[in-house]
Amino acid sequence: MEASLTARDRVGIQDFVLLDAYTSESAFLDNLRKRFHENLIYTYIGTLLVSVNPYKELDIYSKKQMDTYMGVNFFELPPHIYALADNVFRSMQSEFNNHFILISGESGAGKTEASKKILQFYAVSCPSTKLLNNVRDRLLLSNPVLEAFGNAKTLKNDNSSRFGKYMDIQFDHQGGAVGGHILSYLLEKSRVVHQNHGERNFHIFYQLVEGGEEDLLRWLGLQRNCQHYRYLVQGDCAKVSSINDKSDWKTVQKALSVIEFGDSDIEHLFGIIASVLHLGNIKFEADVRGYASLNNNQEMHWVSKLLGIPTQVLQQGLTHRKIEAKTEEVFSPFSVDHAVYARDALAKAIYGRTFNWLVNKINESLVNKDSSRKTVIGLLDIYGFEVFNVNSFEQFCINYCNEKLQQLFIQLTLKSEQEEYEMEGIEWEPVPFFNNKIICDLVEEKHRGIISLLDEECLRPGEATDLTFLEKMEEKISGHPHFVTHKLADQKTRKTLERGDFRLLHYAGEVTYCVVGFLDKNNDLLYKNGKEVMRQSKNAIIKHCFPSTEPDSKRRPETVVTQFKSSLVSLTEILMSKEPWYVRCIKPNEAKQPGRFDDVLVRHQMKYLGLMEHLRVRRAGFAYRRKYELFLQRYKPLCPETWPNWKGTAAEGVQCLIKHLGYKPNEYKMGRTKIFIRHPRTLFATEDAFQVCKHKLATSIQAKYKGYRAKGDYLKQREAATKIETCWRGLLARKEREKRAWAVKVIQKFIKGFMTRNQPVCVDNSEYLAYVRQNYLTRLRDNLPKTVVEKDSWLTPPPIMQEVSQLLKKLYIRHMVRKYVRGITPQRKAQLLLKAQTSAMFKGKKENYPFSVCRPFMDTRIGAGDISIKVLQMIRHEHIKYSVPVVKYDRNGFRPRLRQLIFTQEAAYLVEDAKIKQRIDYISLKGVSVSNLSDNFLILHVTCDDIKQKGDLVLQCDYLFEALTKLSLIGNQQNSIKVVQGSVRFDIQPGREGIVDFKSGQESMVYRAKNGHLMVVRIYKNQVQMMLPVIWDDVAAKYE
Ligand SMILES: Nc1ncnc2c1ncn2[C@@H]1O[C@H](COP(=O)(O)OP(=O)(O)OP(=O)(O)O)[C@@H](O)[C@H]1O
Ligand SMILES: [Mg+2]
Repeated sequence: MEASLTARDRVGIQDFVLLDAYTSESAFLDNLRKRFHENLIYTYIGTLLVSVNPYKELDIYSKKQMDTYMGVNFFELPPHIYALADNVFRSMQSEFNNHFILISGESGAGKTEASKKILQFYAVSCPSTKLLNNVRDRLLLSNPVLEAFGNAKTLKNDNSSRFGKYMDIQFDHQGGAVGGHILSYLLEKSRVVHQNHGERNFHIFYQLVEGGEEDLLRWLGLQRNCQHYRYLVQGDCAKVSSINDKSDWKTVQKALSVIEFGDSDIEHLFGIIASVLHLGNIKFEADVRGYASLNNNQEMHWVSKLLGIPTQVLQQGLTHRKIEAKTEEVFSPFSVDHAVYARDALAKAIYGRTFNWLVNKINESLVNKDSSRKTVIGLLDIYGFEVFNVNSFEQFCINYCNEKLQQLFIQLTLKSEQEEYEMEGIEWEPVPFFNNKIICDLVEEKHRGIISLLDEECLRPGEATDLTFLEKMEEKISGHPHFVTHKLADQKTRKTLERGDFRLLHYAGEVTYCVVGFLDKNNDLLYKNGKEVMRQSKNAIIKHCFPSTEPDSKRRPETVVTQFKSSLVSLTEILMSKEPWYVRCIKPNEAKQPGRFDDVLVRHQMKYLGLMEHLRVRRAGFAYRRKYELFLQRYKPLCPETWPNWKGTAAEGVQCLIKHLGYKPNEYKMGRTKIFIRHPRTLFATEDAFQVCKHKLATSIQAKYKGYRAKGDYLKQREAATKIETCWRGLLARKEREKRAWAVKVIQKFIKGFMTRNQPVCVDNSEYLAYVRQNYLTRLRDNLPKTVVEKDSWLTPPPIMQEVSQLLKKLYIRHMVRKYVRGITPQRKAQLLLKAQTSAMFKGKKENYPFSVCRPFMDTRIGAGDISIKVLQMIRHEHIKYSVPVVKYDRNGFRPRLRQLIFTQEAAYLVEDAKIKQRIDYISLKGVSVSNLSDNFLILHVTCDDIKQKGDLVLQCDYLFEALTKLSLIGNQQNSIKVVQGSVRFDIQPGREGIVDFKSGQESMVYRAKNGHLMVVRIYKNQVQMMLPVIWDDVAAKYE
């Protein structure tokens, strides 16, 4: 609609009903012209479509365009023939009734093109199946065939339809095109034998001569040159630039095969077309008596061959007339003129009847044999109103036909429009319009009408001529306002009329008819033996067209015009039973040129097509009306009460809606089934509001829909998740149950096993015992003692594993011991031996012994570099085994002095720097005393014979146990080391004793007691133990 709104704003109004100056012809014309120059050839007057021939190809008939218009509301897109076609189709579908589209306009206005566009639209838009496609193709291809045989170039139109065509398209209830039927009206047969200057015969003749294959032409006896044929050259324009006969021939060939024309049909058909051309070339000569004769006429032979009629019979038929006397039949020879007349009559008859056969044949291929109910859309493309310089019987019939259709149009639209107001109960002033009934009556009224008078003249005995017919008309209908002849006219008009002319004032304008030929053409008589000759034909089509059952001329057949009149009556009946739609075609100029818009010409057509009247009636009351349901359906979003659904009746809904929109009382009227809106602007405002609202709506509908979809998806997913969950839970539960059942069994077995564990192995306890065994072994594996020392932490075995456990323990301890022993290095072994020695000496005897256990012994405590060289030189020969720093307490006064104690192979030395203070041979070492406490004092008792000799040594050594162990080994003094309690006596010098008292106290100290003893106080044992960790750490650090 946006597109249409811009179009509406940009180039005129797309619906004349919305034109404000609707009574102005100029405004109407302006709008049409404006749009035409923008290539907008379609404009509506309500549902009527006005189409202006663009005389050029427009890019508006593509498949894309068709898709755009499919299923869209009439007023939602710019006007188009597709919109009309689609609307008709959808109305037919929804109302399940029959419709027809009347396409009218003068010759060359674009009726046939419009009907083709509609047909193409249905071919594309209707549902298709293989079967339906077949019908669709035949419907589409019937057009080029009928156009080839029924259209011709005229002065007005290079592809002028020279017959009327009404085509029914049948649809099944699903909208598929399932069949069709064509009715043809009054082919202009005279064109076969005569064409005015600038006109051509029917296209098929030229197509055959120009496009026919060589073989075919040879077989038909034709030459590829239209100039050879008298019937093709009278108009002197066999070749026209706008027509491509060669390619059209190919199209027709293809179409014929699709419409199921067999080879023999095609052969016979073109045999007839060729024989008409040959007939036209037959020349008669006058014999001595002045009668027509045919001497060895080549053309005659071809006709005879192609129609399968013996030459003599044909020759007789063309040169003689059969007269029936009372008892016998007599052949009377023709004059040359008569013979020519009879020949032309034969050619016309052959062509005319073949054309009817062709239509029937197409109908056979379109027939739908299914008896279920169909709906129908009829397309009426009938020759347009024609005015030539010389107008004859054909123009009379054509224009009469147009009068009848205008009458139908008036009845169905102008009258019905006014009736609609009445029906809907709307008050309004009737609008006068020109009713052409008066002209229809002038032509067709019984006894008085022109047709009756013509028939009368044709049928009456005696010498009736075209002029007597004219006189009769002058006599009977003189004074009629729409009829005038030379005789009846006033002075001024008479000048424009010939004596043999009569003029009718048609609704579309004046047409002057030349009366010459009226009687002949109306009689359309073939001489009796002409028909008889044809009946002998071997050509199947001719045989079919001239059946032997045809009544002979004893009873005269109906005249052409009467036949035409009855066919129009039945056409009117057909149309009246259907819903009408109109396409009014307008020709913009006479020159067939694109872009030229001839105001006078168009204004004239506007007038006679009744467009202004139609618009006036449409607008007189109300510019716009719409069924309540449809109006509500479209605009209900504009009112909260009516959106999204109105619960009450549609009329109430519309009332509520327009109240909400604020329509003023004089702007609208409520009919019985429709709302009528007076001014276009009211509708525009509503439509514009709808456009604004539409976007919001679309968004909210979109959101709702997306929400709905998402919700749907979510619910689906949730359902799926629940299902999966349920299955999974079920599976887990089943597993759990199995597990529990298994567990129960196991526990039962376990309990039973436990209860019978002490019995001999049996079924009940075998597993339990195995379990116990395994369990014990596993636990044992994880809890094995890490060292031999921890062997008492051996896991207590269950009764059945007692024996095994014992064995295992033994084995394991052995294994550990072996591992340990293997891991001991020689150095470590030596160390351990020393330690074992120390242990033997002090274990359980001296309080601070345990702290020494973990302190590794060293080879020596003073490096060789720290012993004075002098000392070294002195004792070199004795080989130093061990040395250690000590504190020596003076014998007198017990002052502590730092000294080095060195053990050699021979003796122990007390060294002060470079001085050997005392040498004690091991032999002279009486013993060594240490206290049992945690001090590190040692007293070396020396044998002392000489007074000058130094006495016992009171030493304090940090490495007491190491030093003593070394001493015991080096000096072999194991037994001389004594652990004593309390005090130790020692010899200061021979004969002079000293005493060292050892005791425990709160604080370690060494001092000379008042009694002259050396008092060594060591902290209590338990305090030492408390200090153990500290000492241990200290020890560990040193060890590392
Ligand atoms: N919609 C169109 N687009 C392009 N060209 C068109 C259109 N309508 C008509 N024409 C041109 O105008 C010519 C005449 O149109 P058409 O044969 O439909 O006229 P008509 O009304 O059927 O005339 P007649 O009464 O003589 O049969 C076409 O051959 C074509 O060249
Ligand atoms: Mg046409």
